[in-house]
Amino acid sequence: MLIQCGAVPLTLAIIYVMASFRFPVDYLSVAVVQGVLAAGLTWKLGLARWWRAIQLLFPLAVLTALALQLPSWLFGLGFLLLLGWYWSTFRTQVPYYPSGPAVWDAVRQLLPADKPARVIDIGSGLGGFVLYLSRARPDAEVSGIELAPLPFLYSWLRARLSGSRARFVRGDYEKLDFSRYDLVFAYLSPAAMPALWRKTRAEMCPGSMLVSYEFIVEERPADRILHATEGDVPLYIWYF
Ligand SMILES: C[S@@+](CC[C@H](N)C(=O)[O-])C[C@H]1O[C@@H](n2cnc3c(N)ncnc32)[C@H](O)[C@@H]1O
Repeated sequence: MLIQCGAVPLTLAIIYVMASFRFPVDYLSVAVVQGVLAAGLTWKLGLARWWRAIQLLFPLAVLTALALQLPSWLFGLGFLLLLGWYWSTFRTQVPYYPSGPAVWDAVRQLLPADKPARVIDIGSGLGGFVLYLSRARPDAEVSGIELAPLPFLYSWLRARLSGSRARFVRGDYEKLDFSRYDLVFAYLSPAAMPALWRKTRAEMCPGSMLVSYEFIVEERPADRILHATEGDVPLYIWYF
């Protein structure tokens, strides 16, 4: 948004020059100039390449939406849904994308067979892993914590409607005390790993483990690396 706003003065200057040379100026030409300038700024600022396409097409998308005369509440609804789904992804740098049953089963096999374990999925998304594990290991205490309200609500409803013992909490895992868990499962992003490592190292008890799907900790190589299926990205395990 800041880039689009930053491009506005330059767009106005270019349109002014075009008009003074009697170039035909209409909303479409304004949208094209604005999009090209915003994409150029995006490139200059070194953002990821796909942002250039978004910035280029954004003013044209606004024009199209205006031409369709969509009711204004639709934009409000779209905003609320996206807010509920992504919440503070801009801060955490961890959006939602799910792991799958093969990964969940590989994590299940890491649990000791002879004693009940306390397991948490930090950033539990739609709740697939937590629901699976509480079904597969009825003796375990399995919970999930999720920051974004919509995925949390969905997982909470799934647990209630299916009569699962799984527990879902809405909140920030950074505020949890990890010493209460035998296994912490994380499927986050590279940006979240340094702080996660500092927290696990400070709080996790001897005998417990951190399992991270796909993302490594730069500070310490994993004690064990597993592949849920051949060719799948690894599960990294650190023992405390
Ligand atoms: C990549 S998804 C993984 C979902 C699920 N664990 C799975 O394996 O299918 C990461 C989730 O973590 C959530 N998340 C990110 N930061 C969080 C935080 N600090 N506390 C709780 N949840 C967080 C995101 O909202 C997102 O739903």
